[in-house]
Amino acid sequence: MNKDTDRDKSPPVSVSVLGATGSVGRAALQVIEQGNFEVIALCAQKDLEGLVALCRRHRPRFAALGEARLLQPLRRALQGSGTVAGAGENAVLEAADMESATTVAAISGIDGLVPTLHAARRTTTLVLANKECVVAGGAWFLEECARHRSPVVPADSEHNAIFQILEREKGARSMVERIVLTASGGPFLDLSEEQLSRVTLRQACAHPNFRMGAKISVDSATMMNKALEVVEAARLFALDEGAIDIVVHPQQIVHGMVVYGDGSVFALAGACDMRLPLWHALHWPHRTSARREGAQGLDWRSVSTLAFRPLDRQRFPAPDLARASLTNPIAPVVLNAANEAIVEAFLHERIAFHQIVPLVQEVMQKHDTAKLDAPDSLKRVLTIDAYGRRLARECLERQAVSASLASRPLAEAGLLQQA
Ligand SMILES: NC(=O)c1ccc[n+]([C@@H]2O[C@H](COP(=O)([O-])OP(=O)(O)OC[C@H]3O[C@@H](n4cnc5c(N)ncnc54)[C@H](OP(=O)(O)O)[C@@H]3O)[C@@H](O)[C@H]2O)c1
Repeated sequence: MNKDTDRDKSPPVSVSVLGATGSVGRAALQVIEQGNFEVIALCAQKDLEGLVALCRRHRPRFAALGEARLLQPLRRALQGSGTVAGAGENAVLEAADMESATTVAAISGIDGLVPTLHAARRTTTLVLANKECVVAGGAWFLEECARHRSPVVPADSEHNAIFQILEREKGARSMVERIVLTASGGPFLDLSEEQLSRVTLRQACAHPNFRMGAKISVDSATMMNKALEVVEAARLFALDEGAIDIVVHPQQIVHGMVVYGDGSVFALAGACDMRLPLWHALHWPHRTSARREGAQGLDWRSVSTLAFRPLDRQRFPAPDLARASLTNPIAPVVLNAANEAIVEAFLHERIAFHQIVPLVQEVMQKHDTAKLDAPDSLKRVLTIDAYGRRLARECLERQAVSASLASRPLAEAGLLQQA
């Protein structure tokens, strides 16, 4: 008898999706629809129409929007549907608090930390897309998950690949020499420094292989995404930064590799489709065939070569910033906060693309860890986060003053024009 068929006959697995209207949230719900799941709670920030459409399709017990002003429209739209509506920050936490065996943590940025923590504290399998939770929350966040017996299964394709390999080779953990995270290189991989200084907001938000949220798209373009992934991998797999390599692999077929002491290299390969790691993570610890249309296969007959190349650290210095930050538990929190604030300024067209990483660099040079307590509680993590944002704001203000003193404003100079 097929084990998958047996599993289909078992009661559905309860699941909640935090950040349901985003790129990862929607991909997770596509997987959920094709598996044996019951949706308990969905939440988002402000996408009323998107959340209502997902509620009609997945019939959760509870749905919440972070923006309190949207309570009445959400209630009206869900009237008679069987889904209770809530709005405001507490409603998002209520969604995170609802009992479910599995929780997809797919809110973007540090905003995802508190809801994810709420979910972890009620014991659930965390399908973790929100890398900022691990980057900023660090060891303390992972200890909280462990204390409440909430396993963390990474949904990020690179980390999911490493997770799968390490789990398969459990007995050889002490033989792990290094891991390799592959990087698509983003949309600007082959641009010169001069060309990088002229890229537009729209170009920066268009990833070559994935449709993703604006913030992670910009992070992919600056390689800050890979930088955050180095910190995420160091924390998740308890590795020194020196044991984490990055290799550029624009095809994104190989997602991650583990190099063992006997010279063997295990690589996880598959189609470049977020639904694949999500399928694995949502079914973990079982391996279940993705036999419906959800997770796309890879036609190996169409893959004649696999291309890898080293990262150009001169044009893309962000991963080096992340490596340096790992010497102190406070620094990754500052790095994440500064990057979020500075990317936000770019998304509002206050700075040009090529200014993002140098501004983050400036914050990292200025920050003073002696002023702060270690990030070993939520309060302390959020205090360091606020400090990083304040430094970033100061750097942005100084930048604005020097830009206004320059002969032509950025927009006039054509740096911020839309493609
Ligand atoms: N996209 C990818 O392929 C990918 C891959 C690996 C990891 N990740 C990580 O996964 C996370 C999500 O990425 P994404 O691309 O899916 O982002 P996204 O498309 O921008 O979606 C973010 C989601 O979070 C919701 N949200 C934002 N702030 C919130 C708040 N304060 N309270 C409640 N909900 C809130 C948004 O709601 P609204 O729609 O209402 O604003 C949306 O549902 C990020 O941490 C990213 O680094 C993404």
